[in-house]
Amino acid sequence: MSLKSKALKQADNQQIRKQQREIDALKRKIEILDQANQDLEESLAKARSSRIKLPTQGKTRTSKGAFIRFFVPDSHGAHVDEAALKAMLADIEYLKPRQVVFMGDHLDCGGFLAQHQTLGFVAETEASFEDDVNAANQFLDSVQSLCPNAEMHYLIGNHEERIEKFIITQTLRHGRDAAFLMRLWGPAAVLNLESRGIPFYNKSETYAGCRVQGTIKLGHVFATHGTRHGKNAAAQMLNRFGANVVFGHVHKLLSFGDRNVRDGEMGAWSVGHISRQQPLWRHGDPTDWTQGYGFQIVQPSEDFLHINVPIIDGKSYLSSLGKLIS
Ligand SMILES: [Fe+2]
Repeated sequence: MSLKSKALKQADNQQIRKQQREIDALKRKIEILDQANQDLEESLAKARSSRIKLPTQGKTRTSKGAFIRFFVPDSHGAHVDEAALKAMLADIEYLKPRQVVFMGDHLDCGGFLAQHQTLGFVAETEASFEDDVNAANQFLDSVQSLCPNAEMHYLIGNHEERIEKFIITQTLRHGRDAAFLMRLWGPAAVLNLESRGIPFYNKSETYAGCRVQGTIKLGHVFATHGTRHGKNAAAQMLNRFGANVVFGHVHKLLSFGDRNVRDGEMGAWSVGHISRQQPLWRHGDPTDWTQGYGFQIVQPSEDFLHINVPIIDGKSYLSSLGKLIS
């Protein structure tokens, strides 16, 4: 190789090394810019993302020490609906309640005890008072045999009250005669409540913790037969009680919830009925009654979950629950 060629080659090599250095420098710049771009994108994504983080799951409440409180709705003695009765008894067996509250109207006291309601309506008097008493006793026998160790309470309903009204009228308001006949024929007597070990709560007396007659308080809830009618009965009852209250009387499954600053959440529940949907005294006028009953899952703290269970065409689907979640 000539000297000239050698010099040219050296110059080329120098040029190549210089260009390589420039390329390396450019690559570093690109890397730095890529990193900066990535950092910017990340911070932009962070700035755009919501700061709200929702919890995924709470703790399942323990069932240790919890129990079932069962509310037996109006059944009306000889006028009970047999399919609804069977469905409710099956659910009692399934739920195994520790507390049972008979909400009243388990005697119908139709016929001569109903006086003006059935005047001239002969078919309604087909069932005698004796039939009515027998039916109600069979009903109590069935419930007691399904949960023999349960604590039970029996609230008077307006239909049981017919006996007392009849006796007072017949005895011409003679107090001692009326009291004597009540001991013989009163609801507690004909239903053998004393020998059954079931306390009876009358409309003429008040009971511990209650300012109104015929009402009891169990844990955090009042229970009473009820006086209100119509679709707004639960709201009206909650307004009057200002506390959790369960009642019967309206023959409808109803619930109404409210909250105030002093007491927090509270509710009123009407637990339906299991008597015939279309009694004769309605003279073909369609009722808006709904069959069913109520129960509560009561925690050791006495906080509770109230559930109204509908019975539709003689069927309750409550017992499917255990099979679905077990
Ligand atoms: Fe009733």
